[in-house]
Amino acid sequence: MAITTRTVVHVDGISHTFGGALALGPLTFAVHPSEIVAVVGPSGCGKTPLVRISAGLLEPTSGAAIHSDRRPGSVGYVFQEPALLAWRRVADNARLFVTRRDEPIVERLLRVSGLADHAAKWPHQLSGGMKMRLALVRSLAASPDLLLMDEPFGALDQITRHRLHDELLSLHVDQRFGAVLVTHAIDEAVYLADRILVMSGAPGRIVEEFAVPFAGRRTNELRYSPPFAELCGTIAASLGRHA
Ligand SMILES: Nc1ncnc2c1ncn2[C@@H]1O[C@H](COP(=O)(O)OP(=O)(O)OP(=O)(O)O)[C@@H](O)[C@H]1O
Ligand SMILES: [Mg+2]
Repeated sequence: MAITTRTVVHVDGISHTFGGALALGPLTFAVHPSEIVAVVGPSGCGKTPLVRISAGLLEPTSGAAIHSDRRPGSVGYVFQEPALLAWRRVADNARLFVTRRDEPIVERLLRVSGLADHAAKWPHQLSGGMKMRLALVRSLAASPDLLLMDEPFGALDQITRHRLHDELLSLHVDQRFGAVLVTHAIDEAVYLADRILVMSGAPGRIVEEFAVPFAGRRTNELRYSPPFAELCGTIAASLGRHA
């Protein structure tokens, strides 16, 4: 399929084998500008290789991940662990991927994420939630067209997780990046995504796709509304059918 300007990444017929065993695919999907696509699937179905392939960090055994923008910095990656540099202060971690010209963005993101007062601290002086926020800020500071996230909130408590969800959404309103969010948490996928892809057990394939119909700004009340619970139930059932 030809790539169009309406796609930030087109993952085209990829599959991947480890040591001769098929771990993932074949599968195809695309992410459009400013669209958040969540990927849910059982543990071990190949979600991490899928994000790594989507980022261009891993060469698929077959197929390709095609990016519409090949500029350095056009793809951001948030790992499951914050992966901060222990020997750089908070502000210097945040500006790791930016040029001097982008300095105002770093300052704004540190402010918006509540890290400005901690800019001179070292990573070990931050809480888990703050570290994750910093990892997010570091990826967003480069103004990526595509943000790839591999279970970025998995290790956090629920209150921090919910706070970061809202922060991610408000940064998204500002920056309008396209995103792929891999998560185990169905409610997280439903709260954050425009579209949800359900993967089967290994070798992971996309078996179902759901549009998330909640238009506009998402707020905490949505999490406790009947349509939200119903969609979570539908996706849980889909996962159960295809595990
Ligand atoms: N570097 C590697 N070398 C060999 N096999 C690997 C490698 N990375 C992943 N695998 C295998 O590929 C499959 C997918 O694993 P992976 O952990 O990437 O899945 P996942 O969906 O991300 O799981 P989780 O939700 O637990 O993070 C597993 O069978 C795993 O053993
Ligand atoms: Mg994984």
